[in-house]
Amino acid sequence: MCGIVGYIGNKQAYPVMIKGLHRLEYRGYDSAGVAMINDDGELNVYKKKGKVTELENFAKVQDISGTIGIGHTRWATHGEPNDVNSHPHYSQSGDLVMIHNGIIENYASLKEGLIKRGHTFRTQTDTEVLIHLIEDIKKSESMKTGHAVLAALNKVIGAYAIVVLDKNDPNTLIAAKKGSPMVIGIGDDEFFIASDASPIVEYTKNVVYLEDEQVAIVRRGEEVKLRTIKDKEIPLYVHELEMELEAIEKGGYEHFMLKEIYEQPRSVKDSMRGRLNAAEGKVQLGGIVDHLGKFKNAKRIMIIACGTSWHAGLVAEYIFEEYARIPVEVEYASEFRYRNPIIYPDDVVIAISQSGETADTLAAIELAKSKGATIIGVCNVVGSSIPRASHAGSYTHAGPEIGVASTKAFTAQVTVLTLMALHVAHAKGTIAESRYRQLLYELESIPNKIEEVLKQNDLIKEIANIYKDARNALYLGRGYTFPVALEGALKLKEISYIHAEGYPAAEMKHGPIALIDEEMPVFVIATKGLNYEKVVSNIQEVKARKGKIIAVVTHGDKDVKGMADHVIEIPETDESLVPLVSVIPWQLLSYHIAVMRGCNVDQPRNLAKSVTVE
Ligand code: AGP
Ligand code: GLU
Repeated sequence: MCGIVGYIGNKQAYPVMIKGLHRLEYRGYDSAGVAMINDDGELNVYKKKGKVTELENFAKVQDISGTIGIGHTRWATHGEPNDVNSHPHYSQSGDLVMIHNGIIENYASLKEGLIKRGHTFRTQTDTEVLIHLIEDIKKSESMKTGHAVLAALNKVIGAYAIVVLDKNDPNTLIAAKKGSPMVIGIGDDEFFIASDASPIVEYTKNVVYLEDEQVAIVRRGEEVKLRTIKDKEIPLYVHELEMELEAIEKGGYEHFMLKEIYEQPRSVKDSMRGRLNAAEGKVQLGGIVDHLGKFKNAKRIMIIACGTSWHAGLVAEYIFEEYARIPVEVEYASEFRYRNPIIYPDDVVIAISQSGETADTLAAIELAKSKGATIIGVCNVVGSSIPRASHAGSYTHAGPEIGVASTKAFTAQVTVLTLMALHVAHAKGTIAESRYRQLLYELESIPNKIEEVLKQNDLIKEIANIYKDARNALYLGRGYTFPVALEGALKLKEISYIHAEGYPAAEMKHGPIALIDEEMPVFVIATKGLNYEKVVSNIQEVKARKGKIIAVVTHGDKDVKGMADHVIEIPETDESLVPLVSVIPWQLLSYHIAVMRGCNVDQPRNLAKSVTVE
């Protein structure tokens, strides 16, 4: 999710905010906007689709004066990127404006209630609903003290970092956060609000980090007041910033890739947000509800993608076939588009893409669409070309992925595809209710299980140090973990430049076993499941030829531990969800090896984040 800034003090707000939005550019975004109140009490709002420079060019000839303001760079989740859907958003009267990072999960039901009370909406966003709600509650609760905002937030389900500006009170900003980041900078007779400290650090090192469900009342010439949304006053803890600017942009991590690997507990949770309720036994992917019939009637599903997204598609093949009992073919988009494929009008095609701009995938979609197939997009960038070319789909909500090597996008894709397969299976009645419920509960536990694996980082770093000079590597998996073997090999080769191959473990004896010697590290996923014993035999075949085994095993495993050179234990989970947890060690391993080899981890040689050409 993107960037927010706010300013109140003795400087002109606009220059501080625009510079702050540029500082937040690394977070990725699709549109930007600002609002200021000038010295005549006029509220001016300027917002544009595109880069911050688009906004700057537009604002050049406008009144941008005023010593109080808010600004936003949007990473759209609800409502495509365009001028109207950009932030700040107005309340019904136009007297209040607000910026927001996050997702209001229950915006639809809140909107319904507000429409019944005469509200009309200008945009398709979830954010606009919240500022209307705040104004609705303002009739009985004070804006000045923050009570209208905290009362509204008690009705909200979801994640937010918001700042509200009231045209009738040019001396106050009301901020609040839950699930999205927010920092308040305390300067000399001035205050700064931002998603992280990067827009603040050049003005002051004194910052307050808001905690979840806290509201901040920031008023000119007074000390910041903090309350919980349950209206309990909170003391102010002012921290002194140590980090320098560049480190702040990466959230204190050395590289974006490492930051994104560590974001996965949250990004997987965000990919399920508002879509999964295990207690109620509900999976609801709004984006495909109107196309369930297409899935029910489909004689097959074709999945088209490239690279890591193709690996996510291969996981989806196993899941859709197991639970929805629909035949699935996974196709490299670049091959599919040129091999004159047979496509039927009742085919459902799932196009997977983090960037939503991959040329081969886009071309494959157009080909399938021309033959009458139904296109379902699974993308991370709202409003990008692939979602716009699709008939329907679901966004992965992983937030901007800056590192070229895809990590959190992969786990978010697999999560959304798993939800989609379960949604379809339940609609088709091909999955037993007890099994369905079991999977929903287990899915909810995945973010914590990923958290557990991340704690093994030091062990994984030690292993990386042993094998950082390998010239070749083999990755093995079986069943659900075969796609993870492919993904692990891709990660290693694309950022450390070591040649690596992923293989189905049983396929080794059909050729690759000739490669095995004491120089060849073999990375195997040997977690408990249907194929466990068979994988153990494959490990013994490697050991018999002096190969080195680095195995990912289920926590507590003793057998593999006794034969492998190194083991990385991961929490037990359902076999069909193992890809979400077992990929983490391979992401960290490739990251550390690449760093030790002095490679450019975030921008590996010869690669682009989005391959928009053939
Ligand atoms: C994965 O780490 C690579 N960056 C690359 O294989 C990528 O997955 C592929 O180019 C597809 O990109 P997309 O998901 O944006 O379509
Ligand atoms: N959900 C809001 C929107 O789609 C905010 C997205 C963001 O965090 O930038 O506009």
